[in-house]
Amino acid sequence: MTLLMHTLHVELGERSYPVYIGRDLLSDSSLLAQHIAGSQVVIVSNEVVAPLYVDRVRAALGERALVTEIVLPDGEQHKSLDTLASIFDRVMADRHSRNTTFIAVGGGVVGDITGFAAACYQRGVNFIQVPTTLLAQVDSSVGGKTAVNHPRGKNMIGAFYQPQAVLIDINTLHTLPPREFSAGLAEVVKYGLISDEPFYRWLQEHMPRLLAREEAALAEAIERSCANKAQVVAADEREGGIRAILNLGHTFGHAIETGQGYGQWLHGEAVATGMLLALELSARRGWIAVSEVEDFRALLRDMHLPVSVPEDMDAAMFLDLMAHDKKVIDGRLRLILLEAIGAACIVDDVTEAELRTLLAP
Ligand code: NAD
Ligand code: GLY
Repeated sequence: MTLLMHTLHVELGERSYPVYIGRDLLSDSSLLAQHIAGSQVVIVSNEVVAPLYVDRVRAALGERALVTEIVLPDGEQHKSLDTLASIFDRVMADRHSRNTTFIAVGGGVVGDITGFAAACYQRGVNFIQVPTTLLAQVDSSVGGKTAVNHPRGKNMIGAFYQPQAVLIDINTLHTLPPREFSAGLAEVVKYGLISDEPFYRWLQEHMPRLLAREEAALAEAIERSCANKAQVVAADEREGGIRAILNLGHTFGHAIETGQGYGQWLHGEAVATGMLLALELSARRGWIAVSEVEDFRALLRDMHLPVSVPEDMDAAMFLDLMAHDKKVIDGRLRLILLEAIGAACIVDDVTEAELRTLLAP
């Protein structure tokens, strides 16, 4: 039975949109219908998620003049320009017009590539995010960052492009493999660390309930994560400033993902280890207690997330990869550190010596 538990709003003037959180929302035809203007729809999913959930979305759409289903290969390595071109090939072949609506049903890979396809097709068509991983539900589906990867860097080709709505069906999390679930939890914890200390303390206390995928705990964690994200995005949609705090751990994490080859380390795993490095650096600067770093390391272990960098990556490799990060401006690397738990800051004065000490084996 469908149950709408929370509705949040990302407040961006004429680009504002709702984020619905609940149970069985995939099958809620009225929610979907509210956000589809025309009679043409493109559903983009992948070979893992499509057999599980696309039929329900399709049924909820009711009768439409034209519905194209695109099933992408699974995996971060397919978040590429080639895959993007394959989407355009199908949509062009089926003659979708400017008032078509793209619906992304899947994790962050499907969401990011579908959003970018929607941003580009006929210079921009409507799209709806139906995220099915925890990571996509708390992070990638909200905020309008869309992209594909370049072999030399993650998410290097993309656009800021907001969806018309985000439908979060927490029931989809029941089929998510444990490793993917843990990777999503990393992004949940991120919000507590950067801007919401009470939420971080709540997560430390309630982590066993989340790991057991208890519905009430999940709904609470997703709602608080999305509320935190919506607030930051509303303040700085295109990352001119404060939005960068959402990238806690990401500069280190992207270096790990790129260095190991896309798809080897999960994004959330790389971010988890990156956040630990950011906390260690914050503690070395005397901004947070060393005990907070150790508590965070223990929390990551409870969440089954990695707590050390890959053995084959040394400081020189990190420095080289981090030099390609999008947060490098005029040759200066910007990193997100913590002034306190729940208070992130953006710094551009981290020295190479500090990084070499931090990353020394
Ligand atoms: P993903 O999309 O690769 O999904 C993870 C795996 O879970 C895949 O194998 C997928 O097929 C499978 N899956 C998805 N839903 C499932 C379900 N309900 N049941 C069973 N299996 C399911 O990875 P992800 O962690 O969701 O997203 C990572 C991507 O998101 C990265 O490319 C990252 O760069 C991007 N991202 C973007 C933003 C943003 O703001 N746009 C933020 C964070 C991450
Ligand atoms: N995931 C980082 C952002 O949305 O800005």
